[in-house]
Amino acid sequence: MSDKPHGLGRNASNYGDPAFALYLRRSFAKSMGYSQAMLDKPVVGIADTASDYNNCHRTVPELIEAVKRGVLAAGGLPLAFPTVSLCEPSLSPCSMHYRNLMALDTEAMLANQPMDAAVLVGGCDKTVPAQLMAAISANVPSVMLVVGPMLAQAFEGERLSACTDCRRYWARYRAGEVSEEKIGQVEGKLATTAGTCGVMGTASTMACIAATLGFMPLEAASAPAVHADRLRIAEEAGAQAVRLIRNPLPPLSLMTQGNLDNAVRVLLALGGSTNAVVHLAAIAGRAGLALDLKRLDALSEETPVLVDLKPTGEGYMEDFHAAGGMRALLWELRDLLDLSAKDLDGRSLAERIGDGSHYVDRRIIRARGEPVSPVGGLVALFGSLAPEGAILKRSAATPALFETEARCIVFDGLADLSARIDDPDLDVTPQDILVLKGAGPRSPAGMPEAGYLPIPKKLARQGVKDMVRMSDCRMSGTAFGTIVLHIAPEAAVGGPLALVETGDRIRLSVKERRLDLLVEEATLAARRAAWKPAPAPKRGWDRLVHEQVTQAPLGADLAFLRAAP
Ligand code: FES
Repeated sequence: MSDKPHGLGRNASNYGDPAFALYLRRSFAKSMGYSQAMLDKPVVGIADTASDYNNCHRTVPELIEAVKRGVLAAGGLPLAFPTVSLCEPSLSPCSMHYRNLMALDTEAMLANQPMDAAVLVGGCDKTVPAQLMAAISANVPSVMLVVGPMLAQAFEGERLSACTDCRRYWARYRAGEVSEEKIGQVEGKLATTAGTCGVMGTASTMACIAATLGFMPLEAASAPAVHADRLRIAEEAGAQAVRLIRNPLPPLSLMTQGNLDNAVRVLLALGGSTNAVVHLAAIAGRAGLALDLKRLDALSEETPVLVDLKPTGEGYMEDFHAAGGMRALLWELRDLLDLSAKDLDGRSLAERIGDGSHYVDRRIIRARGEPVSPVGGLVALFGSLAPEGAILKRSAATPALFETEARCIVFDGLADLSARIDDPDLDVTPQDILVLKGAGPRSPAGMPEAGYLPIPKKLARQGVKDMVRMSDCRMSGTAFGTIVLHIAPEAAVGGPLALVETGDRIRLSVKERRLDLLVEEATLAARRAAWKPAPAPKRGWDRLVHEQVTQAPLGADLAFLRAAP
């Protein structure tokens, strides 16, 4: 250990007398019963995201006990501290609105409390990106520990898990195919264990990305939340954090362009969540890197979808884990990856993947020659409606709708959507395009997962399962459909989307990667002149978001938190 302050000596409070500050800190720490010998040890901070509002994180207290065991056995002093915790369905207007708040909180605690390394316990959708953003900005050596996915539940001859099955059943209920009684039964069967959503949604995608980037072991991405392996992974995370103190590899050192490309490849091969594009852009931005949508599109052309999980395919996360998990997937992709990328232990990706002798279940993790899809799950679109870009998850969309030119029906915000979408008098046909505007990162809606616009009830009851839908907001990683997302610039900043009106024609071409509004420039100029932004929120977090939030291609981060390139 160097002569530099370490352990409790780091980040002294400022009384103008450093020795007094440390004396006072030790004195207060001793009130918790620690011996001097314990207080002399290097400190591992543990970000505790347990919350009665976060069902996904139900096992966090048990995981923290296991982390502490690992830290103590390796010779460190574990100190847990609370941070903001975000659960997807528990926040208004949406959890995304607070991702940057969690990142800001976590960064401040990592950077300014006395600790030599940290274990960040996260899992639910926004928590992993927030913690990675924080770790990179604070640049404190940090191990990620996710809570792990929930298990699927047997129900009437099939398996259910949040949240692809939630949406599937809800769509059938709206279409009149499922009774009130049955939807009530299903409600109690969708999330029956602790853990994050059991499909390749945002939480699972971000866990796989965190493992790819080297912030946690590969098997830690998918081990089920309630499996004993999860506790062993937690114990090892504590030990790894102590190793990091001895051989520090700060988070920034993992954030190379090659490693970022690896993360994008994995996202594509997983058929992963569209939300991960926004989160990866924000994570990259904290390291002075850019996630270029054109590059993502190019990588998508040469990266097959290999993982057959819902919502793109059939399996659940527990199947992915049993099938070989991330090691098997990365082995399949190895010729496309930067194998020199390092993890927190300084091991290269080549060393982490091993020699290919592992077990693989080909029903879940396909060989390169027999992919789920020969090209990646995502495409980036540009055009007069999305000059800065938009995203479509083609692996979860209907190919017959990829080339569509049609009239659009516009909903101006979420209140308008819910007021009119099921109106029997709504003038809509299955060939129309549904457009939602006013739900991007700067809008009061905060970029919610509302891009999965419901099929109007009267069409759903005729058996319509998919329509072209588009918006400036996001979609749950567990959802599916021909849905264009993250249109930038968003309507709230006066982007072209703000000018779209019902009856306009829009052209979507996946083949040409185009999204165009087919309206005369003179008409658009008149609408632009009449357009007025909504008033800014008066105070608090909403005000800061309004003033600082970037557009989706920059990760919807706060501009002043991004690193210089
Ligand atoms: Fe937490 Fe889905 S609600 S991961």
